Amino acid sequence: MDYQKILNTIDEELSYRDVSGKVASYIPELAKIDPRKFGMHVFCGDNQHFSFGDSDELFSVQSIAKVFSLSMAMRIMGEDLWDRVDVEPSGDAFNSLSQLEYENGIPRNPFINAGALIIADILVDQLENPEQELLDFVRKITQDNSINFDPKITASEKETGYRNIALVNYMKALGNIKCDVEPVVDFYFHLCSLAMSCKQLAQAFMLYANKGKILGTEEQVLTPVTVKRINSLMQTCGFYDEAGEFSFEVGLPGKSGVGGGIVAIHPEQYSVAVWSPILNEQGNSSLGMKALKRLTSLTGVSVF
Ligand code: DON
Repeated sequence: MDYQKILNTIDEELSYRDVSGKVASYIPELAKIDPRKFGMHVFCGDNQHFSFGDSDELFSVQSIAKVFSLSMAMRIMGEDLWDRVDVEPSGDAFNSLSQLEYENGIPRNPFINAGALIIADILVDQLENPEQELLDFVRKITQDNSINFDPKITASEKETGYRNIALVNYMKALGNIKCDVEPVVDFYFHLCSLAMSCKQLAQAFMLYANKGKILGTEEQVLTPVTVKRINSLMQTCGFYDEAGEFSFEVGLPGKSGVGGGIVAIHPEQYSVAVWSPILNEQGNSSLGMKALKRLTSLTGVSVF
């Protein structure tokens, strides 16, 4: 497969001018991102890398990081985790509160904000220094010790994170948050403020394309069963109320973030990350979705 030729075709065909939508602004610091940014990076199982555009530039990964915190919580909690959060698509917006009341505070899945906040509660409850252990985990699976939080993004979300603070308080009132609210939302804001490039994200997500082993060191970080479950959740829940559309058009397990990033994996073939900050109404990168649709159309393969 000539991935560089395919990426060059995507780069030539697509541009930020092709899509409508807007850069996220409810987190004020995100509103400063240049909407013209566009980069893509494919990391193949044979250790080859292919890319174009702004693929080495750091950006805020936002909800993409929920895959990392979920991985850590699954290792710690095992089957007990699924008493706290379900594994079903929500069909609602990523920040919806509506289903919590009639589901007794148990979120539909770990990728909507409510679910990710339960995962945050678990890590704050179980770990001595959850922020540092998150960094250690992400640096290890990326094999890159330069990865860090963006403090401006952390602070910006902390200043305006009323909806997430409401979600944690509501779930605490319903008995599904064990820790104090402050450290839980603080960890969550740090999680979402991880700054990574398309290349670093593709390197990190090779773990999920490689049955839980780090390519190169072959260290088994997650079990194949854990990876199967995470990939299935990315497939069914990774794009919230647009998960069906992503499966229909792209056909890979993936995860989006309001910083404009999308990652996806083709098991045992490649991991791919794309960044274009212009978001559609569901909070997913419009151009990123188009680019990944072209990738699986031009390669002719998806998981289906
Ligand atoms: O909690 C929030 O609203 C953001 N920190 C993350 C939301 C997000 O990335 C949704 N994914 N498209």
